[in-house]
Amino acid sequence: MADQNNTKMIESMAFAFSGFEAELEEELRRKSANSSLTFERLDERLFLLRTSSRDLSEAFVWTQCLALDGKRVSVMSISEAARILKTHPLPRGSYSIAHHRRCELIRSQAKDAPLRRIDFLPSSESTPWQFWTLLKPDELWTSTNCWPRAVMGLREFVEDKNEPPSRAYLKLWEMFSLGIVPPRSGQRVLDLGAAPGGWTWVLSQMGCDVTAFDKGRLELAASPRIHFREQDVFQLSPADWPVDWLFCDMITEPKKLQALLHRWLAVWPHLRCVCSVKFKGATDFAMIEQFLKDFPGSRVQHLYHNKHELTWVHNVSLRANGLLDKLPLQN
Ligand SMILES: C[S@@+](CC[C@H](N)C(=O)[O-])C[C@H]1O[C@@H](n2cnc3c(N)ncnc32)[C@H](O)[C@@H]1O
Repeated sequence: MADQNNTKMIESMAFAFSGFEAELEEELRRKSANSSLTFERLDERLFLLRTSSRDLSEAFVWTQCLALDGKRVSVMSISEAARILKTHPLPRGSYSIAHHRRCELIRSQAKDAPLRRIDFLPSSESTPWQFWTLLKPDELWTSTNCWPRAVMGLREFVEDKNEPPSRAYLKLWEMFSLGIVPPRSGQRVLDLGAAPGGWTWVLSQMGCDVTAFDKGRLELAASPRIHFREQDVFQLSPADWPVDWLFCDMITEPKKLQALLHRWLAVWPHLRCVCSVKFKGATDFAMIEQFLKDFPGSRVQHLYHNKHELTWVHNVSLRANGLLDKLPLQN
């Protein structure tokens, strides 16, 4: 399909995180205001996107998964739909927006992939998969170019239920497995607002030398790699802390976090940062845009394990094919 300028137009599906459907709709509305993107909300969570491939080069912030550059296929029967799907030897994921019984019957023949829990690094995020849905009883929509590389974007880990003192550690696992190159063993990192210690636990497990700050106490066993300071992070002087990475999962207003980051990056412009931007009440879209404008090259993503918050990264290296990298479209 091409538009009047002969630019290739493609159809894709964006699947919203449960509870963040309004956020995805608003993001799409904002993107469509200054690009070729048009979209249609097919049901609560699924959005059909039409866009030029040029305008769909980066992932959306609020999508659990994207199925890119799909195609519509006429199907006369349930078995024909299943047969067509099975021509791709890929794990499958589906979502039914209507015709639920028919979808269920196709699913029972074509078999969606069972949930596969992901091991923490080395990441297994590289499994391609196939998405499908029924637009009409006799019209299948399917794509084999899906993002991220976990069926339906379900980033469930083989969890460690014993050691980490909070489930917040899953956010950091997820971020590292999605595409940023993690810190190397021996690098010096700060964890601001670290208690009870989930992120500090991850970083120390990776061999980092962690200095953790909080007004409360860590609930972690003593370790030569963890140095705890009971201190207000807003009182720190960045010049005293020549480190490689800054991590921050503190509950604070995005505006205050932004000011704090400006202070640190003014002293250490190459500091690698991974921070949660937390919202109270409505999502502040203007603030998200301001973050990206203030820190050029930085990226922000809602993670599968995020609550009403985003994870913002700056100065990090990206692995090819990670969620935060460019989308793999053929222009
Ligand atoms: C969501 S918790 C962090 C969870 C942590 N990342 C983990 O994995 O366990 C936020 C922490 O920020 C701390 N905090 C909030 N404001 C702070 C400040 N001004 N200085 C130091 N710590 C602060 C709180 O005490 C709280 O422990």
